[in-house]
Amino acid sequence: MQIVILGPPGSGKGTRAQIISKIYGIPVITTGDMLREAAAQDTESGRIADFYMKKGELVPDDIVVEVVEERLGRPDVEGGFILDGFPRNLAQARALDRVLKRKGVSIDAVLKIDASTDSIIKRLSLRRSCPRCGAVYHLKYNPPKKDEVCDECGSGLIQRDDDREDIILYRMIVYEEQTRPILERYENMGKVRELNGEIEIDEIPGEVRRVLGDLA
Ligand code: AP5
Repeated sequence: MQIVILGPPGSGKGTRAQIISKIYGIPVITTGDMLREAAAQDTESGRIADFYMKKGELVPDDIVVEVVEERLGRPDVEGGFILDGFPRNLAQARALDRVLKRKGVSIDAVLKIDASTDSIIKRLSLRRSCPRCGAVYHLKYNPPKKDEVCDECGSGLIQRDDDREDIILYRMIVYEEQTRPILERYENMGKVRELNGEIEIDEIPGEVRRVLGDLA
């Protein structure tokens, strides 16, 4: 099963990707996490990525495509994968087509999530993430068992640099201008399936099974 998840920042892409991964046993490829990891390692492309991410802008395509292409070359994606945060513009969508064609596979479904600006701000301002294993929490809707500590691996949780309200609003503009237009392309290909970004977290597994069940 090859899945792409598209939606504005804070719509719940990462949360759904983790749930789909647990249900269907396929890995999640999150470009945001991979770029943050490169930034933490202070590589040359990581420094460039960090510069753009802090402003809420898209990282240059050549850097992102190289990271995704390398990841899609690893053996664990042979049974399928979930792309969270890629592609984000037309050039990336075309690059993905080329990479998948070489692998002899194609996208089965593009999951489209939307959520209101109000929900997005409330979610992102109280989001906490684990810098070690990538687990995501919300201090009100999905809190860790112990304050600011990851349930999965025990590391201290952090707030992302780009989860400031002014940067969140800018990321939403970037999504509308650069990413939403590629949904039309996938709609024309008959790939788009809608998910409701406003439902409660514990309702997500049921919705995922309803929407993806025929592909399993
Ligand atoms: P990225 O890391 O992909 O961030 P994003 O797209 O802005 O999305 P988020 O991770 O903020 O939100 P999400 O939709 O995954 O929500 P989540 O599930 O965490 O990208 C960051 C940056 O990296 C970009 O700005 C760009 O610079 C760069 N980048 C990444 N990919 C790139 C690419 N392809 N090309 C170029 N640049 C790229 O949920 C949010 C919170 O809400 C959590 O706390 C969660 O617990 C909570 N929550 C989730 N669902 C619910 C619910 N239903 N009810 C209540 N709370 C909920």
